[in-house]
Amino acid sequence: MSKFIAKPAHSLSGNLKVPGDKSISHRSIMLGSLADGITKVTGFLEGEDALSTLKAFQAMGVKIEREGDNVTIYGVGINGLKKPSEPLDLGNSGTSIRLMSGILAAQNFDCELIGDESLSKRPMGRVINPLTEMGAVIDSNDGKPPLKIKGGQPLKGITYDLPVASAQVKSCVLLAGLYAQGQTCVTEPAPTRDHTERMLKGLGYEVNVDNNKMCLTGGGELTATEIQVPSDISSSAFFMVAAAIAPQSDVTLTGVNVNPTRTGVINILQLMGANLTLSNEREIGGELLADIRIQSSELKGIQIPEDLVPLAIDEFPAVFIAASCAQGETVLTGAKELRVKESDRIQVMADGLDILGIKNEVLEDGIKIQGGVFQKPTDMIESHHDHRISMSFAVASLRCNHPIEINGVDNVMTSFPNFVELSNSAGMDITEV
Ligand code: S3P
Repeated sequence: MSKFIAKPAHSLSGNLKVPGDKSISHRSIMLGSLADGITKVTGFLEGEDALSTLKAFQAMGVKIEREGDNVTIYGVGINGLKKPSEPLDLGNSGTSIRLMSGILAAQNFDCELIGDESLSKRPMGRVINPLTEMGAVIDSNDGKPPLKIKGGQPLKGITYDLPVASAQVKSCVLLAGLYAQGQTCVTEPAPTRDHTERMLKGLGYEVNVDNNKMCLTGGGELTATEIQVPSDISSSAFFMVAAAIAPQSDVTLTGVNVNPTRTGVINILQLMGANLTLSNEREIGGELLADIRIQSSELKGIQIPEDLVPLAIDEFPAVFIAASCAQGETVLTGAKELRVKESDRIQVMADGLDILGIKNEVLEDGIKIQGGVFQKPTDMIESHHDHRISMSFAVASLRCNHPIEINGVDNVMTSFPNFVELSNSAGMDITEV
């Protein structure tokens, strides 16, 4: 098990290109595999999560070639997947298991989906319930992986009101809907990332979106296309916070996906007073991109508007570091979902902040953080194998006078394989041991 030693650093600069978006990379493999024809993907995230999806589709008979971040998928058509010879191991990836359940519930073969220790603890009832309503037969370990999905079950379209704002559940139901008899609709209680809808349309599948309701009709086909994966705003968020809190900084993140269902972190940091501007906004392949410049900022504590929560759901560990460096108190509520991510991100972040002497109060659905000064750590910080916890505390080194040790950082590989290299090239001093 490896750890980070993040030594104090005070300045950060440069034009940085962070790796490809994880959500879009997963979807490119899934939809490219089910399409007719050859899909070429550029900027694919070479992280373990996206590679778990890639390997799973290879195991189902799809020819997929990868050279670095260029991927060529020889689509097998919507009904072309083959029974894998062993259980599909999806590692740490919630997106893989939840989205693929929707596809696999509709195949004519049985299969089993498994994952690592963290994934094996995560709730899957949220996908099992709607899929069962559609006619799927899925066996689980009390609502958790492994999932045993029975093949040969005809699915029927349903209208499903999402009980939680989850893009994974929305996508799962829509993907099952590709195979269902009639129309499948999903309504969401708040907007969530819409990459599935955008990419389905990009591959020629009709999806009707009316405010918070998305509908499609089963039985259509997908047509191969070219997909350019933009930089991941979730990975970029570590550098946004890093540059905002660093005493001296001027960083530009180039070609970042600024899909409006993902930009909550930009809004939150701007509300906190961050010196952050967007330029060169453009649309590529149905997704919005921009360059984001961030300079040192005097941050202030805020009450985070609840409507921004689903739009920044993966960025809260980094936002908590910004809140720790802000004047006054930051309050987050309405974010209970953070408790069922790769770790319980409210408790795990609170424990780490305690070690750095930052006053905080854990709430059932959020946290209150009193901005202050990072103290000499009283202990090693435990990431609980959560990539975003590891990277967030590494960034805190820009406002520390003592080295921070973060334990269990192996899973940074799931979403941001060159995090240490890129951070150090910009001025941080992180060693992985
Ligand atoms: C994702 C959706 C979000 C997010 C996850 C990726 C996706 O999960 O946290 O990292 O790609 O659809 P939820 O659907 O559980 O909110």
